[in-house]
Amino acid sequence: MNKLLSILVVFLLMSCGSPYKDVKNTAADYGIVPKPKELLMKDGRFLVDFNTKVTGDASLQKEGEYLAQMLSLASGNDIEFTSNNSGPSDGSIVLKIDEAINNGEGYRLSVNYDGIVIAGKTGKGVFYGIQSLRQLMPPGSESGSVEKLTIPDVEIKDSPRYVYRGMMLDVGRHFFPVDFVKKYIDLIAMHKMNRFHWHLTEDQGWRIEIKKYPKLTEVGAWRNGTIVGLLPGERNDNKRSGGFYTQEEVKEIVKYAADRSITVIPEIEMPGHASAAIAAYPFLSCFPKEPTVVRENMISEKSKELQKEGTPKIVQESWGVYPDVFCAGNDETFDFLEDVLDEVMPLFPSKYIHIGGDECPKDNWKRCPKCQARIKKLGLKDEHGLQSYFIQRIEKYVNSKGKNIIGWDEILEGGLAPNATVMSWRGEKGGIEAAKQHHDVIMTPTTYCYFDYGQSERKDEPLNIGGYLPVEKVYSYNPDSKELTPEQAGFILGGQGNLWTEYIATPDKVELMVLPRMSALSEVIWTPQAEREFNDFKSRFGRLAQRFDAMGIHYSKYIFDDKAAPGKDEVK
Ligand code: ACM
Ligand code: ZN
Repeated sequence: MNKLLSILVVFLLMSCGSPYKDVKNTAADYGIVPKPKELLMKDGRFLVDFNTKVTGDASLQKEGEYLAQMLSLASGNDIEFTSNNSGPSDGSIVLKIDEAINNGEGYRLSVNYDGIVIAGKTGKGVFYGIQSLRQLMPPGSESGSVEKLTIPDVEIKDSPRYVYRGMMLDVGRHFFPVDFVKKYIDLIAMHKMNRFHWHLTEDQGWRIEIKKYPKLTEVGAWRNGTIVGLLPGERNDNKRSGGFYTQEEVKEIVKYAADRSITVIPEIEMPGHASAAIAAYPFLSCFPKEPTVVRENMISEKSKELQKEGTPKIVQESWGVYPDVFCAGNDETFDFLEDVLDEVMPLFPSKYIHIGGDECPKDNWKRCPKCQARIKKLGLKDEHGLQSYFIQRIEKYVNSKGKNIIGWDEILEGGLAPNATVMSWRGEKGGIEAAKQHHDVIMTPTTYCYFDYGQSERKDEPLNIGGYLPVEKVYSYNPDSKELTPEQAGFILGGQGNLWTEYIATPDKVELMVLPRMSALSEVIWTPQAEREFNDFKSRFGRLAQRFDAMGIHYSKYIFDDKAAPGKDEVK
């Protein structure tokens, strides 16, 4: 009976013509971020209803199921994906592979009142077409079913400006649970970004299970207290905190990301930012018996007691850069790091492993007999030469396993490892230098890409690391440097937004800090430079903001109103 009824309704609709065929649309219906390369608005709307079917190539099963689930939630109907590799495309929404599309991440989206086609050169392109389709749906569809769910007719041809479009999350300073990491990955996917740089080890916490070295997480994942307030700090909260990801959880996150066309790049920091690893295994330090250097009056009661009782090494409880780094003169350090990498690399299909390399004070190396002996034996110029030796030795190991390293721009000092990719953070200088040396580069200069900076200059801005990076400034970024020839510019793979979490302890605050700056950056690295304009972005972001409202996601409202509350009271 039900079937009979639906056939009747379809027949009636066909005979009367669709009531959605001639609906007029306006620019406000097309608020897609990042802005597509080519978009042609049309009259008419496609109605998603009980009749809607999603079909497509069997190779697009994953993308098809993602879309069917999205449409089911938004329309309140049970919509399923059926693959139709063997027959004609007979769904009302068809997903296809089209080899003629000339970019591996490119897609074509065609919405008409009587059908939708999403074509990509690969599944990644199709996934991005689905993300554009999602942003053409009413914002309310993010939080439940919408009555009469319609999508405006459109022709889109789109592909990204850069191949590397990343977001970093520091889970070392503050630990974030698996569910939130997934939510962060969802945000990355929504912005058509394709890399999640997972900063997993820090002075204040080691966050990944390594089976051969259980103390890394038994000891290194926990601290006995945390500094309160801006450096130099008001006091220590004396609360034990921390956490880590088991290898099973890591696999789950890597798969979750891969299902959303995102590669996860793990960062295992060396030779600096190593206090948590050293607290777990003091032999990694140049001076295993020396107490961890801490900020006076900012150490927890518990750690004070431990140091007094003869446990010199503690997980850092305050922020900054510390002198206790991995000993570069001791072969056991390299055995340890190779063992760690042996467990890390198989968990991540990524071609890249990030090995840090930033902010490594040379104080200990200068007075360590083993480090000095290494410098002498190898005829190295100084401790910078030793840092270069350290990175090159690790690079050789990573390369021997078929992977490449990424390092922060300090890895240029003392000579770049032969196959390294440079992440330029202290401005663009390091990236420009690396590109001139024909090394791949990811641009992430503090001046445009550090989302831990304040978003306004107001005194009631939520506590942050300092600096001032409003969304307009992020949007004004152009990663193409005038200093590079076109050939050299080809080594700039793209850009990344970084979120260091010294002053960001909760998921809500992560959201508030990254949005809308991440939305702005996504457009910088996706949309052709000539197609971008801030006020146009701002109006499209207005629609995206309504989606975030529906999703319960926090974002800074300054973009709309510079008198808006800075969000301090909205988040912890
Ligand atoms: C960095 O911000 N230390 C890479
Ligand atoms: Zn040493």
